[in-house]
Amino acid sequence: MKLSVPLFLSLLASASTFAPSTPLQINSAAMRSSTAFASSSTSLKVASAPPPVQTPTPNKEPEMIDENVYKFNKILIDTVYDIICFFYPVKGTKRDFARFYVLETVARVPYFAYLSVMHLRETFGDRELGDKMRTHYAEADNELHHLLIMESLGGNENVIDRTLAQTMAFFYYWYVTVVYFFSPPVAYHLSELIEDHAFDTYSGYLENHGEMLKTKPVPAIATKYYVEDNPFLFDLFCTVKNKDEDGNFSARRPQLDNLYDVFVNVRDDEKEHWKTLCNLVQYGDMQGVENKNVVGTKAKPAEPN
Ligand SMILES: [Fe+2]
Ligand SMILES: [Fe+2]
Repeated sequence: MKLSVPLFLSLLASASTFAPSTPLQINSAAMRSSTAFASSSTSLKVASAPPPVQTPTPNKEPEMIDENVYKFNKILIDTVYDIICFFYPVKGTKRDFARFYVLETVARVPYFAYLSVMHLRETFGDRELGDKMRTHYAEADNELHHLLIMESLGGNENVIDRTLAQTMAFFYYWYVTVVYFFSPPVAYHLSELIEDHAFDTYSGYLENHGEMLKTKPVPAIATKYYVEDNPFLFDLFCTVKNKDEDGNFSARRPQLDNLYDVFVNVRDDEKEHWKTLCNLVQYGDMQGVENKNVVGTKAKPAEPN
């Protein structure tokens, strides 16, 4: 992707003036969210430790993103997404896994970029980073497993697909690192847009090719991650919770019967990432508002001259 120098400088200038006013107040206990999009074919078993109650930030107005920065972010992400859609149309064939492989390769690098900048800040004495580093590591681990699932389905078999995905990921990593250094909310907004596309991609795939997916087996790596592994890291990235039927915040382990269930979980993970990012952009807090109140970030109209 090509960026003009004036536009890039304009972005950084606008970004550096943006800062949410809420300090990070995160509850660090791990718990599993009950997603709003759970599959009817996904049964659950409750983990042992009861999760603590989430305390949403009360009566706070969400921050918005400067209109020019918002437009730039949207054009950038939509362009990348459109390129992927052009080269990898979803048709219900094995090539779909190549598309998901490319998408997952690119969509996960922002979490490394956040962690890189946070490590640097920590090195220079910043002790106000709270639990965001842990959550971003858990998100990176979650995205890694999405990638491993796509690889297990053959998504990375073609050298051209690998080259395209890794080249995009390399440059996107450095871009997000620079943006995050100057303005975490603007960098989070980029990922908010990507995660929204990822959720839509998987939703459409499940809707249009669900019957085919129900005839396919569960990859071993999916069983290991979603069913067998200790859920600590998984619970950690689900920061915006739903209440279960008993009024408690539930901790859950999915049962995977077929590939459809795997993709339901991948799609729901993308929604969890999106909700956390919306809260970080708008409130500077991973638990800014509760699940049902999370909405996409709005653009702040430019001041009239
Ligand atoms: Fe993903
Ligand atoms: Fe994601």
